Amino acid sequence: MSNSYQILQNYWHAVATSKSLESDILSVKLLEKDYVLWRTPDGSIGASLDICSHRQAPLSKGHLEEGCLRCPYHGWLFGDEGQCLEIPSAQKNLPIPPKAHLEFIQTQERYGLIWMCPGDPHSPIPEVVAENDDSFTRINTEMQIWNVDSTRMIDNMLDISHFPYTHRGTFGIEQETVVPKINLEQLDETFFGYGYEVKINNVGATKVMSGGGDDVLKLFMSTGFALPFSVLSTMSYETGVEQKLFMTAAPIQEGKSVYTFVLWRNDDLNALVAPNRTIADEVLELELAVVLEDQMMLEKLKGRLPLEHGALVDVQADKPSLEWRRRYKELISS
Ligand code: FES
Ligand SMILES: [Fe+2]
Repeated sequence: MSNSYQILQNYWHAVATSKSLESDILSVKLLEKDYVLWRTPDGSIGASLDICSHRQAPLSKGHLEEGCLRCPYHGWLFGDEGQCLEIPSAQKNLPIPPKAHLEFIQTQERYGLIWMCPGDPHSPIPEVVAENDDSFTRINTEMQIWNVDSTRMIDNMLDISHFPYTHRGTFGIEQETVVPKINLEQLDETFFGYGYEVKINNVGATKVMSGGGDDVLKLFMSTGFALPFSVLSTMSYETGVEQKLFMTAAPIQEGKSVYTFVLWRNDDLNALVAPNRTIADEVLELELAVVLEDQMMLEKLKGRLPLEHGALVDVQADKPSLEWRRRYKELISS
């Protein structure tokens, strides 16, 4: 395992949606290791390396018995904190060897996502304040596996100069290529980034996104990051509609990541924009199309984003990425 992955073990990473763990055992990969997740009867989450302590069978291929995990090979049974409860081959009254217990991995559920920290958490899960604001409703999307390094993904999430090119098929407006001067600042207690105002062509699906209004509309945006790989983008339309887009990536291995995005909006997501079609349907379809454009582009880039000074050419529009790289380098060398 690389040194940077050793350090990244001490941070929270979103590895699955809460919904995907309703009844199933899940196997997930993070930082070159396989983990098993399961739901215990009290609703909490069991998590461990996906390796049985006996003969290293993948526990994710086993089954659940009242919230305990039964290994598929010799049937050892593990409780919700990884403790070995039963060894079927052992004669009664023999103690369970201490090494039979699994090492328990910390998890938390936030924003409809399961976050995992295999080491000791050095910082909290990024705080998205909209989650506790009653005027906002959350929409979750599935986890996606991208053949892209997480460093390249965050560089892309912080970048607006690719909009007119990469996103010409969705919202990119070809004529607006010049990025205004970027002033970086602390956006709230968690996210560090920048705000900017743009004029958008408010037609088609964009009009649903913006909550109506004129055909050309002012939109205030802010985009900021939380180390290591999360970004929050806020879009505030003149109409009073506000959307928060939270994006997070976690390294599976070099050149491969698990990614998801979560949306919060302050309008009525169930309002119909067409027969059997809600605002939520429309917004999700647009966001998924945008994300696919990024994925198609980024999967053409090889390996990690070079972090060494001078390895990339940076222009004014790359200032947010440059700052993220500076802080990320500090983090992985700490
Ligand atoms: S390998 Fe799991 S019980 Fe033997
Ligand atoms: Fe993009």
